[in-house]
Amino acid sequence: MRVLFATAELSPIATVGGLAAAAAGLGSELRRGGVDVDLVMPDYGGIALVDEVTFELEVPDWVGAATVRRGRHSGVGALTLVSVPGMAREHPYLQPDGEGWPDNSERFFRFARAVAALVERDEPDVLHLNDWHTGAALAALENPPPTVVSIHNLAYQGVADGSWLDVIGLNSRHYEWWGDTNPLTGALALADRVVAVSPHYATEIQTVEDGFGLDRPLRDRGDALVGILNGIDTDVWNPETDPHLPVNFSRDDIAGKVACRAALAQRVGFDDDEIPLATVVTRLTEQKGIDLLVPLIPLLEQVPMRLAVLGSGDAVLSARLHDLADSHAEHFAFVEGYDEALSHLMFGGADLFVMPSRFEPCGLTQMQAMRYGAVPVVTAVGGLVDTVPDADTNPRGLGFVADSVSPEYLLAAMFRAARAVTKKRNATALRRRMMAIDWSWTKPAERYREMYASLRETET
Ligand code: ADP
Ligand code: GLC
Repeated sequence: MRVLFATAELSPIATVGGLAAAAAGLGSELRRGGVDVDLVMPDYGGIALVDEVTFELEVPDWVGAATVRRGRHSGVGALTLVSVPGMAREHPYLQPDGEGWPDNSERFFRFARAVAALVERDEPDVLHLNDWHTGAALAALENPPPTVVSIHNLAYQGVADGSWLDVIGLNSRHYEWWGDTNPLTGALALADRVVAVSPHYATEIQTVEDGFGLDRPLRDRGDALVGILNGIDTDVWNPETDPHLPVNFSRDDIAGKVACRAALAQRVGFDDDEIPLATVVTRLTEQKGIDLLVPLIPLLEQVPMRLAVLGSGDAVLSARLHDLADSHAEHFAFVEGYDEALSHLMFGGADLFVMPSRFEPCGLTQMQAMRYGAVPVVTAVGGLVDTVPDADTNPRGLGFVADSVSPEYLLAAMFRAARAVTKKRNATALRRRMMAIDWSWTKPAERYREMYASLRETET
């Protein structure tokens, strides 16, 4: 079975958020299972391939030249890079000042149109699109193959001027949205299956409160909308072999975590004592709710808890976190940046991992944390509901859940979590329980494979 899998991000080549890891993780697991996956992404420039072939795609004039480079990449294996005018940039979406490129909609309309041309040329058995960047591909296809579209984050929709409806293709009426052009709506209407990246998110996005304006079209899809939880790359996220940890550890021999904790405390400037050490690894955006922790920082001493945040993004929030780290240095530390190596130590050395998300389609970091024995403290949203049952109310619980997205409820959950990890024997049992869980892509990839197969069957 040949699947053309189109994505704007792909680890380790272009990583902004979890989409990159999800695309790479699912792609490689499907390949391991015998699916012939053509990973297709924009050519952002500077990406080296070996055994490369190059060809032009037939696209309308408004797209400009669309060139394909197809070959092997050292990190991902077989890879197809699509170049369209304006695509090759330092960052996929953002200018150096952190604002989006003003022509982002246009760039990705071009890319999506080129993907449609590639589908016409290669005739894959299944087309798999991801998020708004690729959504408009279905606008231009008269006879698309069976198509799946995954929603990684409904908050981003790439809405553009209504005049795009005149150019994007014969199905453009499905992309009309209150007079504008929405690259996601058409894909949600036209795809054979719509996949939300967790079961709970699949139900949330059908509500007015959490549907980002698209709840009705999503409800209209009925059984064609399903939730499939993401996995994580359990080779990369493996405390037994992780080269970024000073000492490796495992579920059966967790002792090495003590040395990781000491290294982390030293790295962020904390005393290494009995006080629970919590971490956060995140993008600094509204979604992630880090601002909800701000009023709690002066209270950490009373919990007691130490908290270290690794994050990058919003400049105003970063400045606030730097100030708080200066004024509350004993209990709060902030490392600004996107630092993959340090992120491994933040999971490996932590007693607790805090995720105060306002919404969370799936979330990979809570799974990474649990794999490293860091007990998650989360809000009851999206994939966090599916992955973190509360340990105080559920005998098989794995973490501590704030039922409402607010500083007060988070503080209450942080208190409960701090108490739990200071009871050494219970804490070890909890850590061992979470470290035993299989968060790999094996089961999710199986679900996708079955979905592809059933779509092909109904087609013939
Ligand atoms: P989102 O995609 O919404 O940002 P996810 O939890 O799905 O959230 O995925 C985020 C991914 O990016 C995880 O693999 C996480 O470890 C990584 N990550 C996020 N922020 C940082 C950071 N500041 N430094 C290093 N890695 C980060
Ligand atoms: C998005 C979501 C995140 C999800 C990731 C991968 O970036 O914010 O929750 O885990 O996509 O699907």
